[in-house]
Amino acid sequence: MALSSLFTVDEYGHRCREILPRGLFDVLFGTHGDPWFQSHTNNLDGFTRLHLRPRVLAGVEERSLSTTVLGQKIEIPVMIAPAGSLQRCHPEGELAATRAAGRMGTILALSTASSFSVEEVAEAATGPLWFQLYFFKDRELNKILIRRAEAAGYKAIMLTVDNVTERTWEREYRADFTLTGAPASILQRPTTGLKQTRSDPGSMYKTFATIDRPNLPSSENFHDVLEKNLQWSDVDWLRDQTSLPIVIKGIQTAEDAALCVEHGVDGLVVSNHGGHTVNGLKGTIDTLPEVTEAVGGQLEIYLDGGVRRGTDVLKALALGARAVFIGRPTFWGLTLGGEEGVFSILEILKNELFIEAGRCGVKDLAAVSRSLVVYEGLESLAARY
Ligand SMILES: Cc1cc2nc3c(=O)[nH]c(=O)nc-3n(C[C@H](O)[C@H](O)[C@H](O)COP(=O)(O)O)c2cc1C
Repeated sequence: MALSSLFTVDEYGHRCREILPRGLFDVLFGTHGDPWFQSHTNNLDGFTRLHLRPRVLAGVEERSLSTTVLGQKIEIPVMIAPAGSLQRCHPEGELAATRAAGRMGTILALSTASSFSVEEVAEAATGPLWFQLYFFKDRELNKILIRRAEAAGYKAIMLTVDNVTERTWEREYRADFTLTGAPASILQRPTTGLKQTRSDPGSMYKTFATIDRPNLPSSENFHDVLEKNLQWSDVDWLRDQTSLPIVIKGIQTAEDAALCVEHGVDGLVVSNHGGHTVNGLKGTIDTLPEVTEAVGGQLEIYLDGGVRRGTDVLKALALGARAVFIGRPTFWGLTLGGEEGVFSILEILKNELFIEAGRCGVKDLAAVSRSLVVYEGLESLAARY
């Protein structure tokens, strides 16, 4: 399939829906309106309800899209979100996505559940990487992962704090499909009848392949070995383990944003895991204003969930995000074109952002403010919050 025939990120998604096994697509990504992906739908709809207020005659011929995150320069305010086992969609998985990020001059955050090891990905990188940590019950294992990320040159530890307690497998049952073998106990139903797939079981979660610890995470037991009793004191523990900046991923309220500030972390991601956690959450773009207000500029805020357009990026920046992440689009780019596919996705977003920034009178993304957006039917944002 020629990538040149795909003009938008959504078109990558639509094409993948046509060619990937239906169960795989429904479980990993879902579609707008799926009953088990309401939060994902809300992420997408949130952007639609928010409108831009363009300024004119602003002399925008010279425009810069670059910014800094935790002191690192990135060429566009769009980064690649951590996502488990990218090899599910392309044999080169995280290596290809990392190369694409490097070519675009942006950052990839590598998932703990990566198909390739932290060292292999670092070797493929031409730009900065962050390491996303899932916190395991086994603290020694957490320490080993942090040490390896530090040694391989990762620039930040991103701790994912949602998606760590028990999950329902409703999605899998509805789609009659599972990637990892959902535990029968949760829904009191046998899982053996569900169709299963795995692109290459041997290489899943390769970072763990060289670790000698009991009960290591695998695709079968991943949720069982996570620390389900995760608390703010664990964030303090993490702070004591590393001098790297810490970013908390999965913040959805002003209260928890304020706790991020209190616990001295360096950044947070307003995220609901792409709608993979609780069904029926607010869209992340709708949550962003309360988080921005609570943080009061004391740490960096990023957002993910439903970012598909350059205009979505502008809207997130207007409401206080320093940069955004994309999740599903990375899988779609990989599926359709490996490294080139991911690069094309980033390029589409970059071009859209450049064009729409100009048409909104924005010369410098750092100068974007709340006045750039207005909610549907409301005169000002203040009327909503
Ligand atoms: C298939 C899939 C796997 C994911 N794996 C991880 C992961 O391993 N760690 C993590 O912190 N977030 C993970 N996420 C969540 C993403 O980092 C991100 O929050 C989300 O995908 C952003 O929403 P979007 O897909 O609408 O762009 C995953 C998301 C998807 C769709």
